[in-house]
Amino acid sequence: MESTALFRIGQTEVSPAAAEAALARSVDTRTLFARHECGDWGNTPKWLAGANSNAAATRYSFHAIRSTYSLGADCEAVVVTSVDRARTRLMLAEEFMTHELSVADGYALWADTYDYPNPLIGVEEPFFDAVLSRLPAIDSAVDVGTGTGRLAFKVARGGTRQVLGLDATPEMLGVARGKAEAEGLGGLGFKLFELGICPLPVADASVDLVTCGLMLCHLPDVMAAIQDCVRVVRPGGWLILTDFHPATAGFGWRTDTVTPDGVFRLPNFPTTREEYVRSLTGAGCVILEIHDIGLDGEPYGDISEPAMRAKNLPPLCLVILAQKI
Ligand SMILES: C[S@@+](CC[C@H](N)C(=O)[O-])C[C@H]1O[C@@H](n2cnc3c(N)ncnc32)[C@H](O)[C@@H]1O
Repeated sequence: MESTALFRIGQTEVSPAAAEAALARSVDTRTLFARHECGDWGNTPKWLAGANSNAAATRYSFHAIRSTYSLGADCEAVVVTSVDRARTRLMLAEEFMTHELSVADGYALWADTYDYPNPLIGVEEPFFDAVLSRLPAIDSAVDVGTGTGRLAFKVARGGTRQVLGLDATPEMLGVARGKAEAEGLGGLGFKLFELGICPLPVADASVDLVTCGLMLCHLPDVMAAIQDCVRVVRPGGWLILTDFHPATAGFGWRTDTVTPDGVFRLPNFPTTREEYVRSLTGAGCVILEIHDIGLDGEPYGDISEPAMRAKNLPPLCLVILAQKI
């Protein structure tokens, strides 16, 4: 019976080492591409097989589809399809390596596909939207670590007169600017800037709202970063901070992007939820809302260490709404 392809695999390539190993074991590499595109994920662990199936069922996903097949005793091959489904590479398992990248290099690599559906954004966004909808009209806002402008667009579309998106990665800003031009949103601008290297290019107490989405986890000094964000908010104004939950670091979770060329990990610094709270309150804010959100998009519940260990799963996302006194 002929199987049906579940997703596009684009241009295929076989590494020289994998081609040699397959030839020596009389394995036709075309059969491995065929198994891969039909959803036979081979020996991949269960969690990855599930993520593959979810990604294969949708046209776009941030997830690179990855299968592992045995070529014979002690020899495994990995087949990886890029997130845009333009390219699939078959290589020996040992050739599929993990690389450590800087924040700027990591997001430069990720920029073109950053807006694809991503589970972290999937759970964060409903909470961010709800928090934003509870604020009164905002006249001016700064989105720090704006990336492709996701949160800046949300604020600007809500009628805010002036929104400035700041980010350290030119490629992410390039995507943001392209979208802003296409949408024709007046009052929305983007600027290259690296928080932690110099202060925000914004006057003290001058904006109604600072947003900062999924970015502070990449900074070694969260307290100084948050203090600078609070500095530019006017008294009575707000901050909405979202992040890859600090508790994920204790479980070894990292920000990464996967391509047919390997796993590319970005720096994440260990910070605690308490440090976020103390940084905000220490800089003169009150916490109005704090949400620990689980992988299922629901409030996580008990965030004590024993409770997290019992679940063997940390909360995925942290969302905080604070007001400057
Ligand atoms: C996960 S993305 C988040 C983008 C956007 N805020 C969102 O929520 O979709 C993290 C962004 O933070 C930016 N970033 C990381 N460190 C930064 C820093 N020190 N200053 C400014 N931007 C930074 C990266 O370039 C990247 O675009």
